[in-house]
Amino acid sequence: MALTVEATSSGDLIPPDRDTMPARPDIPPVAPRKPLLPEAEELFRGIYTRAGLTAPGVVAVTSAISGEGKTTIALGLAVMVAQDFPDRRVLLAEADLRQPVLASDFDVEASPGLAEALEGIYPVGIGYRETFLPNLRLLPAGEPTPNPSRLLRSSRFAATLAATRRHHDLVIIDSPALLVSSDAALVTDQADGVVMVVRSGVTPMPVVDRALELVDCERLRGVVLNGARSSVPGWVRRLFGF
Ligand SMILES: Nc1ncnc2c1ncn2[C@@H]1O[C@H](COP(=O)(O)OP(=O)(O)OP(=O)(O)O)[C@@H](O)[C@H]1O
Ligand SMILES: [Mg+2]
Repeated sequence: MALTVEATSSGDLIPPDRDTMPARPDIPPVAPRKPLLPEAEELFRGIYTRAGLTAPGVVAVTSAISGEGKTTIALGLAVMVAQDFPDRRVLLAEADLRQPVLASDFDVEASPGLAEALEGIYPVGIGYRETFLPNLRLLPAGEPTPNPSRLLRSSRFAATLAATRRHHDLVIIDSPALLVSSDAALVTDQADGVVMVVRSGVTPMPVVDRALELVDCERLRGVVLNGARSSVPGWVRRLFGF
């Protein structure tokens, strides 16, 4: 049930200034193990359009608590934007340094990744992995690190994000959950936009409200109700709230 890789549109964005940092040449292209439902394509298109992901920038995908679908949504959005806009360079960056999953999902080595870039061990470009789409790259979180908050608080995080922004048109960050640790707010505060995922029927509204209080209103691009009951096939029903 993998997504097809048909290019449908060249898009209309003016690409930002960017370096021509190459990805590591020795890493073979990889595909994620986690399948996306083909019928979810239209739903992801609706989300990326309404959340403004067709414009350049850095967008963090977060949620109030764990397991609401952040990684699923971030991955789906990155794949769909890359697929629909083949002239746009898209990076899926994993900023959940405590419980990273994307290296395993894409079946690549965990390191080097974001953590190693934040430690100053490698320039961030060394961590980019090519994927099954030529314009989609992955930056995994890296090896588990004893103090993720320290890394995300450091000035190197802002500098690293700035570099990813120069190297790509769109950076989608798979972020930690806002009410689980302070890591998430450190990430969302550095992003241009924030997409909040809510597991419909599971996460109580007061909990969602508490999480939303931690997000700068001007950055909030919308709230994805994940798993809402709907006649629309797929996992994601709609985006609202911006
Ligand atoms: N709408 C849905 N219906 C059914 N299963 C879903 C749905 N959305 C996500 N899942 C599944 O729920 C689990 C958690 O999803 P995911 O890993 O995307 O959440 P997360 O918010 O990134 O979690 P974490 O906080 O642990 O990083 C995964 O197994 C995923 O496949
Ligand atoms: Mg996750």
